[in-house]
Amino acid sequence: MVWDPQQYLKFSGHRLRPAVDLLMRVPDFAVRSVADLGAGAGNVSKLLKERWPDAVVTGVEGSAEMVAAGRKAAPEIEWLQQDLASWQPTQTYDLIYSNAALHWLPDHDRLFPALMQRVAPGGMLAVQMPRNFLAPSHVLIGETALDGPWRSKVEHLVTPPPVAEPGFYHGLLSPLSENIDIWETEYLQVLEGDNPVKEWTKGTWLTRYLDMLQGPEKAAFEAAYGERVAKAYPKNASGQTLFPFRRLFMVAQRKG
Ligand SMILES: C[S@@+](CC[C@H](N)C(=O)[O-])C[C@H]1O[C@@H](n2cnc3c(N)ncnc32)[C@H](O)[C@@H]1O
Repeated sequence: MVWDPQQYLKFSGHRLRPAVDLLMRVPDFAVRSVADLGAGAGNVSKLLKERWPDAVVTGVEGSAEMVAAGRKAAPEIEWLQQDLASWQPTQTYDLIYSNAALHWLPDHDRLFPALMQRVAPGGMLAVQMPRNFLAPSHVLIGETALDGPWRSKVEHLVTPPPVAEPGFYHGLLSPLSENIDIWETEYLQVLEGDNPVKEWTKGTWLTRYLDMLQGPEKAAFEAAYGERVAKAYPKNASGQTLFPFRRLFMVAQRKG
């Protein structure tokens, strides 16, 4: 999947807020090494480095476009272009942090315990993932995919939500954790502009579908989804669009 940093950062304010909320829940402790998984263009990695200036912060990121943007925006970070599915670090980290990235990876039942094994004893795992997959913004992508001439090219992408309920992660992490805090927040995002929910998903979930299509078919898919999603999220009297968005957070301390 090709990430477009410009499209993703169109809503950088709303996208930064949960990253900061997660960071604020990580307690103060001595941190010498941080891995920021799916670091994107580095705007959150910079905050990690600001909070722990003496730590080596490594941005692990699969997309060449994002790494290029990150190297420019955050040269103080070590950048590693690496698919997280095959990430096998030789060291442990005091903090493994990941904002809005791990929902792209499958097999969370194996992934989360494996990540916790890469946290140093007494260190922290801090993760935020969107959990909005049953909201119209995301359901309508699947509906559009199954209802058009493009179906055979995109139907394999219509899969169950990639993020499970909070108790699932508690079950995975609690045997390895000293302390564990898991919660959800639903942000009422107030967006401006024309069909902003389509613009939002175009920076993330919709991209996978658009990547499968070309030319007029790609444009037709985007328009068909755009029409559905605009109806599901109409503008209010002030011309704003209210877009509720649920996110799952966890901060867990590895047993010493
Ligand atoms: C929604 S962005 C979040 C970026 C950053 N964490 C932030 O909060 O701004 C998700 C990032 O995860 C990266 N990503 C997704 N799947 C990945 C994988 N398998 N390996 C490495 N990076 C991945 C994407 O390239 C993208 O930059």
